[in-house]
Amino acid sequence: MHISILASIVAGVFASPMATPAVQIHPSSYPGKCIDVHGEFKIGTPIVSWDCTTPANQTWMVLRGATHIVVANKDFCIYAEESVGYNATLVRCAQGQVFDYRYNRLMINGTYPGLCLDLPGNDSQNGNPITVADCNDATSWLTTPA
Ligand SMILES: *[C@@H]1O[C@H](CO)[C@@H](O)[C@H](O)[C@H]1NC(C)=O
Ligand SMILES: *[C@@H]1O[C@H](CO)[C@@H](O)[C@H](O)[C@H]1NC(C)=O
Ligand SMILES: *[C@@H]1O[C@H](CO)[C@@H](O)[C@H](O)[C@H]1NC(C)=O
Ligand SMILES: *[C@@H]1O[C@H](CO)[C@@H](O)[C@H](O)[C@H]1NC(C)=O
Repeated sequence: MHISILASIVAGVFASPMATPAVQIHPSSYPGKCIDVHGEFKIGTPIVSWDCTTPANQTWMVLRGATHIVVANKDFCIYAEESVGYNATLVRCAQGQVFDYRYNRLMINGTYPGLCLDLPGNDSQNGNPITVADCNDATSWLTTPA
């Protein structure tokens, strides 16, 4: 593998024109936990942290550029209002937030700088919602191939 491509992957930025890999997304402190669609694939379903046991609910594509965090092979994306404490939910991708996966943070690329997805309280309990927090306090996330 070419070193610059490797560096891009390590940085969490997926180089085009490589196909966007499907990944699981884990809080760095808890590699056995996954960002999970907790329920049916429909608008408003909560996005939580859960044991990495149900890949169908935990397989994502983090697309490069002005794009979204997409449930693999579905027209559903993560939505997180630009408001500290907001619980992330599922939306159709046209309404999905633009994120920037940098420095292992999932930053909302919105109107207000410095907001990131967080595992509140660094609490590993299943069902803990993924929320919006100040990036300085927010969880770092790792991806692994799904
Ligand atoms: C996984 O998704 C299905 C629907 O697609 C849902 O019924 C189930 O509750 C989800 N599992 C978890 C652990 O959220
Ligand atoms: C973030 O927004 C800026 C300004 O709109 C844009 O130039 C940049 O490409 C966006 N980054 C991502 C990862 O979407
Ligand atoms: C976020 O989810 C938690 C856990 O389900 C709930 O207790 C809390 O009220 C929710 N917060 C908002 C702002 O809806
Ligand atoms: C989160 O909790 C884990 C387990 O207790 C700990 O190893 C880790 O350092 C914590 N991370 C943060 C950012 O506090």
